[in-house]
Amino acid sequence: MPGTLDEQLTKYLTDVHSIEEQALRQLRTAPKIAGDPQLARTFADHLIETEGQERRVRERLEARGADLSKTKDLLGRAGAIGMLLFARSQPDTPGKLTAHAFSYEHMEIAAYDLLAIVADRAGDRETAEVARSIREQESGMAARLAAGFDRAVEAPSSGQLTDYLADAHAIEGQAIELLEKGQEIAGQSDLAHVFSDHLDETRSHQAVVRARLEEHDSAPSRLKDAVMRVGALNLGAFFALQPDTPAKLAGFAFAFEHLEIGGYEQLRRVAEREGDLETARVAERIIRDERAAAAAIHGQFDAAMDATLAAQGVA
Ligand SMILES: [Fe+2]
Ligand SMILES: [Fe+2]
Ligand SMILES: [Fe+2]
Repeated sequence: MPGTLDEQLTKYLTDVHSIEEQALRQLRTAPKIAGDPQLARTFADHLIETEGQERRVRERLEARGADLSKTKDLLGRAGAIGMLLFARSQPDTPGKLTAHAFSYEHMEIAAYDLLAIVADRAGDRETAEVARSIREQESGMAARLAAGFDRAVEAPSSGQLTDYLADAHAIEGQAIELLEKGQEIAGQSDLAHVFSDHLDETRSHQAVVRARLEEHDSAPSRLKDAVMRVGALNLGAFFALQPDTPAKLAGFAFAFEHLEIGGYEQLRRVAEREGDLETARVAERIIRDERAAAAAIHGQFDAAMDATLAAQGVA
């Protein structure tokens, strides 16, 4: 059923609303596992900001005449992009928590950028303004988390270098899955090319990480353990529930790249701390690739939204 641009805009607003509700839940528990007073305060401050964001988005929904009791029923589905990224993951160290939070902020950045694009096209200036203003808050929070990467790996329970390497290996495995399926969904498009280029890089990242892991711990059982590790995410669930639009796929992939960036930023620091300069160099090189991939994906947001709206029969 072709929808109108107005209906689509309300749907994206509903999405970001559910993302903020999820953020509220996460931010209420995050300070307890932050393992560091400054990091805990960063989360507590963003909780207050997030309460304001949830309210502003709700007000836009109400102004557009959306029936919140009706949209409530859709939340589980509509918010898939936000829910599933973290639904299966339970960060158990300050380092993982910080990397996941960093990624979540980028998922929000993506969601608000996409919302602003739709609001512009629908001519809803107030919603576009709200989207851009909240986006700046998310971007500020992401920067504060990035500034806290040092502190996160210094916390006593931050984990060992081999843990970080094993996680990186698992995340690259998930990235391969994301990029392969993503190519199918993106169809014949520049986004598909971005995915396919990064897929080659991702395979080589995984091989390099594996080599570093072997260098550290050649015990076959331990290595097999790391290689078999499913990782924090279950992308299968993401694709089962929401394999639908290039726009959401681009937003999700953008956030995923930042999960990788957060992980490698910490791997680099832990490697330096433990005097493994080769791993630190490897991490630095991969971070550059991940950042470039994230920027390339972000550059496709407009085109991905065009393709999404066209497929939905919206002019
Ligand atoms: Fe938010
Ligand atoms: Fe946020
Ligand atoms: Fe990547």
